[in-house]
Amino acid sequence: MAAPMKPQSLSCVSWSKYLFYFASEHLDFRLAELEAISQATKSEVRFDEESYDVKNPFLVVESPSIECIHRILSRSVLLRSIHQLLAQGTSTEELHENVRKMPKDLLDPYSKPDQTFAMRVETFNKKIPQKVKIEKIKALPLAELGFKGTVDLKNPDNEFHLFEYYGWDCNNAPDEPYHSYFGRKIGEGQRDRIQEYHLQKRHFIGNTSMDAGLSFIMSNLAQVTQNSLVLDPFVGTGSLLVSAAHYGGYVMGTEIDYLVLHAKGKPSRSKQKVRAIDESIHANLKQYGLESHYIDVIVADSSKQNMWRDQSYFDAIITDPPYGIREPAKKIRAATEDYIITDDMKDCHYPQKEQYELTDIFIDLLNFAAKYLQLYGRLVYWFPVIRAQYSESNIPQHPCFKLIANCEQPLSMKVARRLITMEKIHPYKDDTAEARIDIDHFQGSFRQKYFHKEKEIPNKTNPS
Ligand SMILES: C[S@@+](CC[C@H](N)C(=O)[O-])C[C@H]1O[C@@H](n2cnc3c(N)ncnc32)[C@H](O)[C@@H]1O
Repeated sequence: MAAPMKPQSLSCVSWSKYLFYFASEHLDFRLAELEAISQATKSEVRFDEESYDVKNPFLVVESPSIECIHRILSRSVLLRSIHQLLAQGTSTEELHENVRKMPKDLLDPYSKPDQTFAMRVETFNKKIPQKVKIEKIKALPLAELGFKGTVDLKNPDNEFHLFEYYGWDCNNAPDEPYHSYFGRKIGEGQRDRIQEYHLQKRHFIGNTSMDAGLSFIMSNLAQVTQNSLVLDPFVGTGSLLVSAAHYGGYVMGTEIDYLVLHAKGKPSRSKQKVRAIDESIHANLKQYGLESHYIDVIVADSSKQNMWRDQSYFDAIITDPPYGIREPAKKIRAATEDYIITDDMKDCHYPQKEQYELTDIFIDLLNFAAKYLQLYGRLVYWFPVIRAQYSESNIPQHPCFKLIANCEQPLSMKVARRLITMEKIHPYKDDTAEARIDIDHFQGSFRQKYFHKEKEIPNKTNPS
C-alpha cells in the first residue's frame, strides 16, 4: 500500500475538511489511487495517517480548495463520493453537539428559499428501516441552521448526508454507530465509468481482458493524463489501452499472438459462435469515441528490444504480463547460426517460440522500461503471487526505479496478484545496472506452483 500523505506544515491558506466515502472493493488500492491522482492533478490533500483504517470506507481529508476536490472526483473510480464535512462524532450525542456548534452562516449559501434540499441517511455494516432513518434526520438539531428552501428528494440542489459507521464485522454490529458524520455532498467519483466501459458491452474481448474498474485504477496509478504516450507490451485485447485513452493518453501495444490481436481465435463469450469481422482494439477505442487516441498495435515479441529506436519515449507503461495460467507466455527463440531462411521461405516463415519464464518477463520488463520510459514516467504491472510464500524481496528492482505502491488483489485463499507501481527517478545510462530480484518467487513456472497442492509447494523463500 502507498504511504499515506503526511500532514503538511501550516500555511496561510485555510484547509477545509471533507469526508471521502470509498467503495467497498479493492481496499488495498484506495490510498495509492488517491495519492497518484492528487499528485497527477496537482490537488493538495492531507489526512491523519493514524486515523486511516482500511476497513472503514470513510476518511476525513483536508484540502485547501474545492477545485482540488473536484479534480480528484473527476478521476477516482474507488471513491463513491466526497462531502463537505459539517460535523462528526463518536456518539450520536457528540454528533448532535457538534452540529449545534456549526457556525450559523456555514450553510447560508445552501439554505436559501430558492434552494431545494434532501437529507439522507446511509449506514455502513447495518441495515436500518426507513422509519428509523427518518427519526434520525428529525433528531438532528438543524432548526437553528435555518433551512428556508423546500425538500426535493429526487433532484435536490443540495444533498445532506448522515453517515453512520457500524464497524466491519457484520455478525457483531453494535446498536449505536462507532462514528457518525454529517456532510454536504460535493460530488461523485467515477464509479459509473465501470458500468459504461464494462467488458460485457465491449466489442472485442478475450479470456484475459482486464475489467474496466481495475484498468482505470492502473491508468490512475500510472498518472496517465492528456497527451501521455502509453504502451502496453502485452496488449492482448487492449483493455488497458482503453482506460489510458479515456484519460487522454495516446496508446500503443505489442502482442506476440497474431490470432489474439487479429481476433482470429475462438470467441470468449459463451453465446458467440464466431468472431465478428471487425473485432479489434481499434474498434474498442472507436466504441468509446477514443479512436483519435489510437496509435497502433503490432504483432511483436516484447522480450526483444531491437525494434525500438534507443530513446525514452513513453510517459507510462501499463501491463498485465502472461502468468502462463490462462494464456501462454512465449518468446521468439534465438536464431540458430547454421539455419538459413531462403527467399522462397520468407513469406511463410514463422520463427520458433519458446517458453518465457515469468522471472525473465519481469526482469526484461524493468530493463525495457528503464530505457524507454521518460524520466518520472511510471511503470504499472501485475505480479502474481502464492500468498503464503510472498515477501517484498520477490518484487523486481532496478536502479532507475523507485517503488511507489504495491497493492494486493486476493484471487483466492492461496493466490493473489499485486499491482506494482514504479517511477523512473534516474535517467538510464549505458552503464546502468540491470534489473534484479532478490528472492525469486517463481523458481521456474508459476503455473506449476499454481496447480500444486499447498503442502507440495517447496517454500524456498522461507527455508525454515
Ligand atoms: C494477461 S494477457 C493481457 C491481457 C490484456 N491486458 C487484455 O486486456 O486483453 C497477456 C498477453 O501477453 C501476450 N504475450 C505472451 N508472451 C508475449 C511476448 N513475448 N510478447 C508480447 N506479448 C506476449 C499473450 O498472448 C497475452 O495476450
